[in-house]
Amino acid sequence: MTRDLLRALVQAAIASPSVHNVQPARWRLDGAGLVLLEDTSRRLTVGDPSGHDAAISLGAAAEGVAIAASAEGLVTRIERLGGAAGSLREVARLSFAPGAAPDPLLPLLARRASWRGPFQPPQPADRARAAALSADDFLVVIQAARIDAIAARCDRASYAIMRDDRFRAELRHWMRLRPSHADWARDGLNAEAMQLSPLTAAAAGAVLGPLFRPLAAIGLAPHLLAERTGFAHAVAVGLFHRPASEDPFDTGRAFHRSWLAIDAAGFGANVLAALADHRESAAALCTEHGLGSDRRLVSAFRIGLRAGDGFAPARLPLDEVLLA
Ligand SMILES: Cc1cc2nc3c(=O)[nH]c(=O)nc-3n(C[C@H](O)[C@H](O)[C@H](O)COP(=O)(O)O)c2cc1C
Repeated sequence: MTRDLLRALVQAAIASPSVHNVQPARWRLDGAGLVLLEDTSRRLTVGDPSGHDAAISLGAAAEGVAIAASAEGLVTRIERLGGAAGSLREVARLSFAPGAAPDPLLPLLARRASWRGPFQPPQPADRARAAALSADDFLVVIQAARIDAIAARCDRASYAIMRDDRFRAELRHWMRLRPSHADWARDGLNAEAMQLSPLTAAAAGAVLGPLFRPLAAIGLAPHLLAERTGFAHAVAVGLFHRPASEDPFDTGRAFHRSWLAIDAAGFGANVLAALADHRESAAALCTEHGLGSDRRLVSAFRIGLRAGDGFAPARLPLDEVLLA
């Protein structure tokens, strides 16, 4: 293993998804391997107090390295580390050995991105291709009426979460509403990624900020924040569920792979975490879709055919992510 190759693996993993795009993964070269650390200053203290979503994000980053390493014929061994709490916490050691075939998801690693924009109307073949994404941990809903019901539930769950002033403040902290924002291209959720025009971005900032309480008082806030129209032409909703007792780091590895598989099938998707984070919604969805108590609804994906162009991903540069 050369240092250049290890650096290239970390560079490839920067494309991995993370909650609010906080990018908590930091890396250190460790001889012929890598140590993955969590930058705990990136924790969402309101939205993710237990670090569950941070752990999913870290697992996703580790899987990103493993997929990238397969291009070099390398199998990745991931050993968990119980790093002491601190601003940088050691999470895992990754070592590499020959013997891997290129991972079929490899071509998607750099291309996958959240798609929060409109969808093109699907054809029957698209629904069949979406249905084929079904897996032991991925339940695909393609019936229009069921998708509508999930969309309505999603808005209710999302609003229930958004009512918390501290949650909205933290979300706004990670939103970059104007290209002049210093971190627009580096991290968080910029208006382009959220598919907001300059005007709607400014409006969203106001509705989530100073206008929220007055709008909530007259009953308008839920309507203004509703994303139901975003489900128009959705080909499917995917319910991603894992063993209830699974370590969220391992969940994150599988989460990344599931998302890459969606993109590999030619779709664009975005995460509907509110459905899983809002307890009553998650419980109701599990009941409606026959997921037993041994399963945890981790997240849901809204899936469809992208109608529109891609955009430059906001990411931290390698020299900030790879520690000296
Ligand atoms: C644990 C977790 C939860 C997420 N929750 C949401 C969500 O509720 N809504 C959303 O639009 N994206 C969500 N995302 C997607 C991230 O915002 C996204 O991966 C990040 O902004 C990076 O952008 P990219 O997916 O385009 O690479 C989540 C991602 C992770 C890992």
